[in-house]
Amino acid sequence: MFSRRKFIQASAILAAMPAKIVLASKQLLGNKFQVPALYVGTRKGNNVYFDLQIQSGLSQILANKKTPTLGVNQNFLGVTLRASKGDKVHIRVKNSINKTSTLHWHGMKLPAKSDGGPHQAIQPNKTWETQFEVIQDAATLWYHSHQLHETAPQVYQGLAGMFILDDDKASALNLPSEYGVDDMPVIIQDKDFKQNGALRYLGGMMDSMMGKKGGTVLVNGVIRPVLKAKKSLLRLRLLNGSNARTYFLAFNDNRVFYVIGSDGGLLEQTQKTNQLRLAPAERAEILVDVSDGKMPILQHKSGQEKSGMRGMGMMRSMMSGTDNDLNIMQIDGSNAKKSNRDILKKLVTHDNPSMKQVSRQRLMRLEMGMGMMGGGNMFSINGKTMNAKRIDEVVKAGSVEVWRIENASMMAHPFHIHNVQFKIVSKSEGVISTHELGFKDVVLVNPHEQVDVIMKFPEFRDKNTPYMYHCHILEHEDRGMMGQFVVV
Ligand code: C2O
Ligand code: CU
Ligand code: CU
Repeated sequence: MFSRRKFIQASAILAAMPAKIVLASKQLLGNKFQVPALYVGTRKGNNVYFDLQIQSGLSQILANKKTPTLGVNQNFLGVTLRASKGDKVHIRVKNSINKTSTLHWHGMKLPAKSDGGPHQAIQPNKTWETQFEVIQDAATLWYHSHQLHETAPQVYQGLAGMFILDDDKASALNLPSEYGVDDMPVIIQDKDFKQNGALRYLGGMMDSMMGKKGGTVLVNGVIRPVLKAKKSLLRLRLLNGSNARTYFLAFNDNRVFYVIGSDGGLLEQTQKTNQLRLAPAERAEILVDVSDGKMPILQHKSGQEKSGMRGMGMMRSMMSGTDNDLNIMQIDGSNAKKSNRDILKKLVTHDNPSMKQVSRQRLMRLEMGMGMMGGGNMFSINGKTMNAKRIDEVVKAGSVEVWRIENASMMAHPFHIHNVQFKIVSKSEGVISTHELGFKDVVLVNPHEQVDVIMKFPEFRDKNTPYMYHCHILEHEDRGMMGQFVVV
């Protein structure tokens, strides 16, 4: 007989191994899909009040061991915040861990003082109070620690959550929108664990150079969960909350799905595809139809990850921990109620900045020094490593600019700009794919590629408080691939 205890141990061992691709249509993964608690704050008219606490605790991620983790209003990861366009949001963040931390509202257009970046650090036992008005359209944003030089370990341990914005136009569309029923947050992160259950962070020089990649993929803090679909048409709000891994997402049965949103909100038109590349910090909203009653597995295609790193020889195999496709989550469609929604073709209309309005162009040249042992200026933008006391760029409020992001290194970097949503104008090598047609706040720039982005800077002026732009491979950000701009 297989005792329950042994069974738990066996599943813990299985959980720690990257599973191989399986084509059969049955339930293969075992853990239950977790929906992060929704927190809509306390509302008085248009004012919404959020009380947040950065905390630490023990979490049951593995079957038989507890893992020390960080979270916001819970032990691991953050609760999902939700507000609407036009709301005046008031947030209090109490730091209850023994390290200085911050919470940054990634993708939000807001005054620099409210951004939650390195300049709004919260000391242990202190509380940070901030407020801003939501001036942008419905979108899947997120929030995470942005502590200078400490972002990577803090996010890795769990300081990340989703921040959903709504607006009337998006709500009027007939899209799946019942949180936790047919509208699901999907926070994808890869981790490694030690024997004792603790998270294993950097394993050596390679991890800190390439960024930390783990062999086990978690969704909303759960290893390879099964989502038992209640409705046959699901909206998944995908967030790559990983430190460094870019996912090449596809279902194991290659089924088509529909991309409806990007970092900055809904696309103008629904895009049909069967694969999606999602770099760190990127979001994509997709619709998945499981009315066939099958049980598709969302996977990361490791082969594609490697073929993207051309001409890197053995570096290539060192960069990705595994040769197998990684199973991310499974959707069980066998009990899904038939949804009566159609897949809309047309979604919203974007107010695009035009090339005629561009008043300035800037170059952002991303470099990785070759002196692996020397340290020094290893990660830089325009030859400079991050210095919190130096303002690198000065931008005019309300102006439209084009930034050319040039990757002068041999690995891809997801480049992120605070306080804006941009459009990709051109890429020197790759094609602009489905979700990249929408508004973005982060874009993956391949080795030796140039990507031009256009954006209008909101009317928030503050000559003393900078916003950041940086690589969103968190180990690169922490090691200096970050710069600062002010808007005046
Ligand atoms: Cu997602 Cu500067 O951050
Ligand atoms: Cu950000
Ligand atoms: Cu980078």
